[in-house]
Amino acid sequence: MNENLDHILSEAKNHVSSAPTKEELERLRVHYVGKKGVITSLLHQLKDLPAEKRKEMGARLNDVKVNVEKVLKLRQSELSRKDLEEQLANAPALDLTLPGQYSTSTGSLHPITRVMEEFIQIMKRIGFSVATGPEVELDYYNFEALNTPEHHPARDMQDTFYIEPPILLRSHTSPVQIRAMKNKKPPLQLIAPGKVYRADYDMTHVPMFHQIEGLMVDEHISFADLKGVLHYLVKGLFGARPLRFRPSYFPFTEPSAEVDMQCISCRGSGRDCRVCKSTGWLEIGGCGMVHPNVFRHVGYDPDKVSGFAFGMGMERIAMLKYGIDDIRSFFENDLRMLEQFSC
Ligand code: DAH
Repeated sequence: MNENLDHILSEAKNHVSSAPTKEELERLRVHYVGKKGVITSLLHQLKDLPAEKRKEMGARLNDVKVNVEKVLKLRQSELSRKDLEEQLANAPALDLTLPGQYSTSTGSLHPITRVMEEFIQIMKRIGFSVATGPEVELDYYNFEALNTPEHHPARDMQDTFYIEPPILLRSHTSPVQIRAMKNKKPPLQLIAPGKVYRADYDMTHVPMFHQIEGLMVDEHISFADLKGVLHYLVKGLFGARPLRFRPSYFPFTEPSAEVDMQCISCRGSGRDCRVCKSTGWLEIGGCGMVHPNVFRHVGYDPDKVSGFAFGMGMERIAMLKYGIDDIRSFFENDLRMLEQFSC
């Protein structure tokens, strides 16, 4: 039986390792170690042997079985690799430039973000740096240091969101002027973009909106500098347009003005114009020369330095730029609206 086993093993090894196909390999597996296979039947016959012989033969037979299974497995993986290589060799070339099966949608910038970015880039070109300040602010920075008296209507609980006096949500970006000036000696040339909050809600007002503040302080800064900067800014945003400075009042500037831009729709004619309500002009912000009291609050000497400041609402600018009627549509997150301004 021993020689017989040696023979079976060497024959199995020969056949298996040269099996040309998986089918042939399977046939050999069944032949040797299948339920009725050669080796399996010999295992069954063990019980007929005398006990001492049975042990020795059992071990030997098992050894043969393990060896045969090993070569079967080896040949199996050789044939699999061969199959794969053939498949790859015969497959059409893989076109890596084909578009994917699934598309992912890419987000885009919100129109307000776009306008703010544009604004910032224009101002950076003429040397303005960007400053920021907290949205949760103190009464002192939002009002007091900006020369805004106790009885001023903006201080009213109904206009300003108070967290708990003197803590509030800033109602404009002007407090950043104070923080910047307290931090640095003149000269100063900065803009402060950010969110501001007011208790307001209609077609042209929302409780949270965006402003950009501008501030320039040095010796001999005049209203002419303010006009020059605003003309440059408007030219960058809308193309060159006439501006009008209408006398106005802000506690933190003196003199103060409202800045109007010639209407982009009727070009100033005012004829039947819905955009400018037939006035020929569009208000785009407030401005003025920094009030001496504001300088005193931050420790600047109003006899030595002068400066201008301005503030603009970004939603207003975006509405004019893109012809949007209702400010609320910026915040309804309707993609059909927002996608029109993506790039
Ligand atoms: N802070 C003002 C507002 O929110 C806008 C403004 C007006 C800012 C005049 C200024 C300025 O810096 O000089 O209505």
